[in-house]
Amino acid sequence: MGELILPPAYADASASQPALDFPDYRSTALRHPSQPLIAAPQTLTELTGPLLGEGRVRPEDADLTTQHAGEPLGERIIVHGRVLEEDGRPVRDTLVELWQCNSGGRYRHDADRHPAPLDPNFTGLGRCLTDADGRYRFVTIKPGAYPWGNHANAWRPAHIHFSLFGRAFTQRLVTQMYFPGDPLFGQDPIFNSVRDPAARERMICGFDLGATEPEWALAYRWDIVLRGPAATPRDEDDT
Ligand SMILES: [Fe+2]
Repeated sequence: MGELILPPAYADASASQPALDFPDYRSTALRHPSQPLIAAPQTLTELTGPLLGEGRVRPEDADLTTQHAGEPLGERIIVHGRVLEEDGRPVRDTLVELWQCNSGGRYRHDADRHPAPLDPNFTGLGRCLTDADGRYRFVTIKPGAYPWGNHANAWRPAHIHFSLFGRAFTQRLVTQMYFPGDPLFGQDPIFNSVRDPAARERMICGFDLGATEPEWALAYRWDIVLRGPAATPRDEDDT
C-alpha cells in the first residue's frame, strides 16, 4: 500500500485554516466531523486522473458580463492573478471556476430568498484555464453584501467563491475571495473562522491600478497558493 495522505482540507488543523467547529458560525455545530478522521489511500487513479474542462472551456466563459443579451448592472471589475504551488511554481492549464451573487447581493438560485432583485443579464458563473504562467483572468461585476441569518443582522462581506484544481483531481481548493477594506469583516464568522490574521489577509484581493482598463473597469489581483505554509485558506461554505 502506498503512502496515506489526508486530504489537505483536513490534514491542516492550524489557525491558518478555518475551524471546522466554530460556535459563532452556528451551522458548523451539526456538520463538523465528530469521529476520528480516516485517511484514504490515494491510488494511481486519483493521482493521475484527468482534469475536467480542457477542450470545453471557451474564452467567453471568463467574461460574466457578456453571457446575456444586455450587460449586468453594477460595477464592472477585472479579477486576475496566478495559481501557484507551495514552492511558487505556476499551476498551468488548470480549471478555475467562480460563482457569485449579483451587484444587489442576490444569487440566481432557488434557495436564495433575499428580497433583492435578480438581474436578467447576470448568471454569476464563470470559468477559465490558467495559462503557462498559471495566470487566470475574469471580467465580472462587483458582488453585493447580503444577509444570511446566522445571527442578528448578519451580513456577508462581498465575496466571490472559487474552485481550483492542482495537478491531480484530488488536489482541489474551494475558497472565497474578499475585497479590501470591507466594513463587514469584523462581524463575519465565516471569514473569522480562519483565526490567523495573516492567513485571513491571504483571502483578500488587492486593488491593482496597473491592471485597470481606463474608462472601463477597475481591477483586483488575487494570487492563490494551493498548499503549504502560505496556502490560501480553504472556505468551502456555500453561503
Ligand atoms: Fe456566497
